[in-house]
Amino acid sequence: MTTDDRPMTVPQFTALKGSGRKITMLTAYDFPSAQWVDAAEVEGILVGDSLATVLQGHANTLPVTLDEMIYHAELVGRAVRHALVVVDLPFPSFHLGVHRAIDSAGRILKQTRCQAVKLEGGVRQAEVIAGLVAAGIPVMAHCGLQPQNVHQLGRFRVQRDEDALLADVQAVEEAGAFAVVLECIPAATAERITAAAQVPTIGIGAGAGCDGQILVLHDLLGLAAGRPPRHVRPYADLRATATDAIRRYRDDVRAGRFPGPQETPQ
Ligand code: KIV
Repeated sequence: MTTDDRPMTVPQFTALKGSGRKITMLTAYDFPSAQWVDAAEVEGILVGDSLATVLQGHANTLPVTLDEMIYHAELVGRAVRHALVVVDLPFPSFHLGVHRAIDSAGRILKQTRCQAVKLEGGVRQAEVIAGLVAAGIPVMAHCGLQPQNVHQLGRFRVQRDEDALLADVQAVEEAGAFAVVLECIPAATAERITAAAQVPTIGIGAGAGCDGQILVLHDLLGLAAGRPPRHVRPYADLRATATDAIRRYRDDVRAGRFPGPQETPQ
């Protein structure tokens, strides 16, 4: 959140690097959750393509479409007053050349109130990032573990090739990315990359040495099914709380305790 209560801009976000203030980011996919996150005064909100697994129940992030991302980004953009809102470019909306990427990202900026896009890739996507930036579209890059490469990777694991990671971050920075997400890389590597980079690094499963952190909101709130990944700290158990509330409602309906006089028009 900015001190003057206006939305965080991309230059303000980038300037947080070296300011002494760690950057906090979370995902949001809809109007109410975006309001909760924005009210907590985080600096950035990501409409992540993780919504494919978290909201849509898919096995990976590949199925979500650009139209679906735009739908969710529009809901989030309508709710947010303070944070910078970044929207994931889904697979393969930026893989078919710079023009296609500009078309996809341009739709996001035109049809939602969001200010920037994120895309997975380092050296391999530098040309696309440069093209987007030249078109005036702010880009957050995403290096390290790239979930859209699920079938190439076989399974998700920590990415340890430090030379390749450094080259990726240098390439996206030179291409004009305003920040870079580092996913699932060793903490010491993330620290060295953060020291070398001019733009903020936002870690997820990359240790405390990054300039900021991002988590999936549903993981933080304990809303996701199954065991959370190792890098997650669940700050609540809302799935259990919700199921308990719904059971109590069901019990009250069955027992004739709901609705009571206070919930009944006289
Ligand atoms: O899609 C997403 O939620 C992300 C974060 C995990 C960084 O890319």
